[in-house]
Amino acid sequence: MANVIVIGAQWGDEGKGKITDLLSKSADVVVRSQGGVNAGHTVVVADRTFKLHLIPSGILYPNTECIIGSGTVIDPQVFIEEIKQLETLNVSLKNLFISQTAHVTMPYHRAIDRASEERRGKHKIGTTGRGIGPTYADKSERIGIRVVDLINPDDLKTKLEWTINYKNVILEKLYNVSPLDPKVVIEEYLEYADRLRPHVIDSSLKIYQAVKQKKNILFEGAQGTLLDLDHGTYPYVTSSNPIAGGACVGAGVGPTIIDRVIGVAKAYTTRVGEGPFPTELKGDIGENLCDWGAEFGTTTGRRRRCGWFDAVIGRYAVRINGFDCLAITKLDVLDRLDEIKVCVAYKLDGQTCYDFPTNASQFARCEPIYETLPGWQKSTADCKTLEDLPPKALNYLKFLAELMEVPIAIVSIGAKRDQTIIVEDPIHGPKRALLDANGDPVKTKV
Ligand code: IMP
Repeated sequence: MANVIVIGAQWGDEGKGKITDLLSKSADVVVRSQGGVNAGHTVVVADRTFKLHLIPSGILYPNTECIIGSGTVIDPQVFIEEIKQLETLNVSLKNLFISQTAHVTMPYHRAIDRASEERRGKHKIGTTGRGIGPTYADKSERIGIRVVDLINPDDLKTKLEWTINYKNVILEKLYNVSPLDPKVVIEEYLEYADRLRPHVIDSSLKIYQAVKQKKNILFEGAQGTLLDLDHGTYPYVTSSNPIAGGACVGAGVGPTIIDRVIGVAKAYTTRVGEGPFPTELKGDIGENLCDWGAEFGTTTGRRRRCGWFDAVIGRYAVRINGFDCLAITKLDVLDRLDEIKVCVAYKLDGQTCYDFPTNASQFARCEPIYETLPGWQKSTADCKTLEDLPPKALNYLKFLAELMEVPIAIVSIGAKRDQTIIVEDPIHGPKRALLDANGDPVKTKV
């Protein structure tokens, strides 16, 4: 039995969709714990491309139960669109469950998200505009609509009438935006409720029962460590906790049931939205990485900012999440480069800084200190084992493992399921196996 958390180690878009899809094969249950339709997974199976925002990619395995947990926020409109997409592809939805205590994203959340971003002007966060922040804000303000309210028509009417009248004041007076008609919204959401109702459960109980039955549970993170509300690059963050601890909170399980935490990091770095990004590449190399890596947001289609791998951030993610091992994705995107830089530390106000500065203004002043490694200039796309990799590509991976002081368990070299090198069984393998072509432990830095 192994319960595993998969977490993004950077600013999201690390390729968690592919990794969770791969690991879902050994999982009986996949749980999404936080975030909403701001997330986006692209999964490629047998030349079919699936774009999912809310539904865990585990749904593609017919016997895997997929649970959208209490800590998530659910936009019923998008959820239903996803259900329809999966139905047309003959994917069974009998194992899809939604927590009754998850919060519901409403039209006023989307309207406020967009209007407040506009109002912020140059201070905007660069949100996905999907209403995520306002939904979580209502949850904290204790005026949110939960799934259990949505599927109970009387509760929905009473709560929405009050809330929409309240939100209309904000929309009209603060943002100068057209108000919403409570009747229209209630009618629309009552219809959505009928589609959602068969999937609604007490998710924490269901997960607990799976634990008791010694099932394998995979907790699938959305976004990434640096977008964490508490530990990310605030204020340029999302409004949930996409870190390992957040998975327990959002799923409603105790940390003692977790066996492993796997961090997913790209072989370089990307970021969407605003905020400092020390290793960002603004010239040709950045443009090339974006094109070669197809770095466009699954949710918004925005071009992602690209840069070199940042080991300061990597080490911070190891600390915050307690990663047991790493999955390094998109190594193949670096195939054509003649040299590759890795940020090993920052220069901050004349000092060398090895630890991520959680002070936002200090972080904004950080300049990367690079080490340059030779590129391998060979395709890695067909490599099946570590030994197949060009020696310089293997060196690059070893360098990352040393810098982060965490073993690499998975290397991804393309979007397809079989374009993956599994170094160690990340679920059942030994806890501290280190990556090395000969199976020798990788030397860790003191
Ligand atoms: P929000 O989550 O829509 O409020 O956006 C807040 C910040 O998180 C913005 O910079 C978004 O671009 C970023 N963000 C949210 N979800 C994702 C994701 O799945 N991948 C990458 N960035 C994301």
